[in-house]
Formats: sequence, C-alpha cells, structure tokens
Amino acid sequence: MQEYRPLRIALLGAGSVGSQVARLLIENKAELAARVGAELELAGVVVRDIEKAVKSGVPRELLTSEAEELIVSSDIVIEVMGGIEPAKSYILMALKSGSDVITANKALLATHGTELFDTAEQVGAQLYFEAAVAAAIPIIRPLRESLAGDKVIRVMGIVNGSTNYILDRMDVAGISLQDAMAEATELGYLEADPSLDVEGFDAAQKAAILASLAFHTEVPLEKVYREGITKITAEQISAAKRDGYVIKLLAIAEQVPADEHGEAGVSVRVYPTLIPRTHPLGAVHGAYNAVFVEAEAAGQLMFYGSGAGGVQTASAVLGDLVSAAKRHVAGGPGLADSVHADLPILPIDRVLTRYQITLEVTDQPGVLAKIANTFSAGNVSIETVEQSVQVKSGKRSNTATLEVGTHSATDAQLSAVVQALKDSESVESITSVIRVEGI
Ligand code: NAP
Ligand code: HSE
Repeated sequence: MQEYRPLRIALLGAGSVGSQVARLLIENKAELAARVGAELELAGVVVRDIEKAVKSGVPRELLTSEAEELIVSSDIVIEVMGGIEPAKSYILMALKSGSDVITANKALLATHGTELFDTAEQVGAQLYFEAAVAAAIPIIRPLRESLAGDKVIRVMGIVNGSTNYILDRMDVAGISLQDAMAEATELGYLEADPSLDVEGFDAAQKAAILASLAFHTEVPLEKVYREGITKITAEQISAAKRDGYVIKLLAIAEQVPADEHGEAGVSVRVYPTLIPRTHPLGAVHGAYNAVFVEAEAAGQLMFYGSGAGGVQTASAVLGDLVSAAKRHVAGGPGLADSVHADLPILPIDRVLTRYQITLEVTDQPGVLAKIANTFSAGNVSIETVEQSVQVKSGKRSNTATLEVGTHSATDAQLSAVVQALKDSESVESITSVIRVEGI
C-alpha cells in the first residue's frame, strides 16, 4: 500500500478519558500506524488547566487552551471534554472544516444529536460515538452496522454502572440505599452531580441514543420516560430476592405494535424494575453494564463489560479513531445513520408491563374480594396473590400484607388501579409498586 500522509489528531479534553486516549495514542503509535496505514499524529490537547493535565501524564508541549486553530488544522477531532458548550460549538466547527469527529459525550448527543448529525451529513463528515453508551462495550457499532440488515424488536440494558453498583450492594450485602450510595461515592462511581445517575438522567440519555439507532427514528430526550432509584427500599430488595427477582435500573427501548389503545410506535423508558434472577441481566453485578438486544432474525444477543472508566472509555474512542483514520486512507463513505422509519415515540401510558404491588390491608372478611374487584374493575388481571399476617408477641396483627402480581396491562390501566387502591377504605397503605420485566 502506498504510504499515506500522517493524520493530524486534535484531542479536546485530558481528564479521566482524554489523558488515557493521549497515553495510548503515544504508547501505541507504531502499532496504530500499522493498522491504519498512516501515522496518527497527536497534534495537540485542549484543556483549561495545563498544569493539571501535565500531572496526569500529558506531555506539556502538546497542551494548549487555544482550541480553534488546532480544530481547523486537524483531520480528526476527538471530543472528550463533556458538557454542552463549548463542546457543541467545537464539534460543529470541526465538522464544518471537514474533519471527522469522535465523541464520548452522551449528554450532548442526547440533546443536540440531530443538529450534529445533520451537519455531518451536509458536509460529508463522520461523527463516531461508540464511547457515549456503555464505554468499553461495543454496542453502537453492532446496532449501526452488524444489525443493520435485521429488525430490532427490543433493547434492554443496564447502562448506568453506579446505580447497578448501588442496587447490587443492597441485594448482595442487604445494606440501605444511603449506605450503598455512600460506598459508590467513596469509589468515585457517581457523577459530580449524583442525581444524573440516581435519578436516571444518565441512563435516559443513553436510552435515547440506543433507541434512535435501533429503530431508525429520532428519539428526543424529553420523550424518554424516566424514574430513578431513590425510592427503592431495602424491603423491596429483600422481597424481590425472596420471590426469585432482582431489582435493576433498566433502559428499555422497544417496538410497540398497534392495538386497541392506539397506533404502533416506539417506547423508550428508564425505571427500576423486577427481573427474574435467572434473566441474563440479573447476573450483571457491581458497576458492570450489559445490553440485551432482541432482533427478529438474530434472536437474543447480550453485550457485557465495563460501562465506565477512563481507560475503558479510551478503548472505545481509539476503536472509532482507527475507523475514522482508515476511512481517510481508503476514502469512501463511513458509517451512516438512518432515521427513515420516523416512528412515533409513545407515552408511558401505552406500555404493557406486569406490576408487583404490596399492600397493607385490614384483615377482615370480604377485604380480599374488594381488592380483587378493584383490579377487575380496572381491567387488570391478577396473576398471583400472597397474603401474610404478622404475629407479634404471640398476637396476630389486624393488618394483612398482600403481595399482588399482575398479568400484563397498560401502564395507564395499572396506574388507575393503584390510585383506586389508594382510595379504598380497606387499604391501609401501599408499601411497594414496582414493574416486572424480562418474563
Ligand atoms: P473529566 O475528567 O471531567 O475531563 C474533562 C476534560 O475536559 C478536562 O481535561 C478539562 O480540562 C477539559 N475541559 C472541560 N471543559 C473545557 C473547556 N471549556 N475548555 C477546555 N477544556 C475543557 O471528564 P471525563 O470523565 O474524562 O469525561 C469526558 C467525556 O467522556 C464526557 O462527555 C463523559 O460523559 C464521557 N464519558 C466518560 C466516561 C468515564 O468513565 N469517565 C465514560 C463514558 C463517557 P480542565 O481539567 O483543565 O478543566
Ligand atoms: N455515571 C456513569 C455510570 C458513567 O455510572 O455508568 C458512565 O457513563
């Protein structure tokens, strides 16, 4: 092969991810050149605090706080700064100057992805983002390329490592949400603003990106239904364990067929849910991530690994870099996304799920029948009922605990039943309402 000119690489950011990208680019320079067919020359690294970047191992002579000149003089720009601005302006500048761009910035893609992808398409540049979802796990490329000829039915993933760590510690060690969060903070798993993780915002951003790819449809972040893990109690975790379930924060994107409730579309949602312990996602422990994909022809696939970490994320960035650089050397089109399907994004009301509802009821004749009637009036079918009565100091309590498992019904039907139960005189309290997935 004829030798290609060196390709100039601009790196924006040298934090946890950027410093590792810089190190690997420098250490593996010869190997990467052999793989690409051209030298990858790290032309400069943009940061605000140069001394901090030097301490994390980036050579001083590469560091600059002047982004613009570096961006417009580079062939490929890697954005690992995070945040919306100036990252967005820098990426647009790079694309408009003809550079391919690699980004790990899920927050930016989930909120301004359309503008960035449209710009890339208009100028014939490429935008790569394998690192934006589940870091080291290859999931973007499989959805974008390997499954491009198949029809994805459902994507169900644990895409936030810190919340998986928290729920796993509550399950395995029986500790409280607060104690598990303190451990996750101590280990540096949570974002600087922990609500991004525990309220499900980070998972919702990733769900929007995955759903857009899987269903060839633009999925705006605001249409992703989201609940976090902050209301999950130790009692819910131990009840789940006793019943053969585990609670996981799942990002779910699925095709919903047309039915008596409305048109066909896509549902994208993030919430804590019960899944059977035997489900492949039930075996994902600690801060690991996994994405379970069901496609019409391929069947069930699972992608598992580290969903965060500087060096792990750098691996995905470098994979994109090799793809982008090879495209420069060989020419021709790169990866292309399609939003041709343009399916409607359905509200949470349309989603069919099972529920597990735990109630404290007055232990009197006829109460069970009244509860059953409430479900039946709401057109929700009961699948299982378990009743227990507490005995304290040899005396039976006047309150019975009912654990009701339902068959699938729409979220709207189930919410109406829960409201009717709350209003019922026989119900003293509802201690847990949680969805069940993966059955
Ligand atoms: P980080 O440690 O906070 O590093 C950010 C870097 O960007 C720092 O070097 C910072 O420089 C630089 N920077 C930020 N704003 C800047 C500005 N206005 N001008 C110049 N430089 C600026 O972040 P990170 O953890 O490496 O994450 C980077 C990106 O990767 C984010 O989009 C994140 O969501 C994504 N990501 C991270 C992980 C992970 O595990 N860390 C996993 C997947 C995806 P100063 O320090 O000088 O301010
Ligand atoms: N806060 C994220 C997580 C980091 O816990 O998974 C990776 O995006």
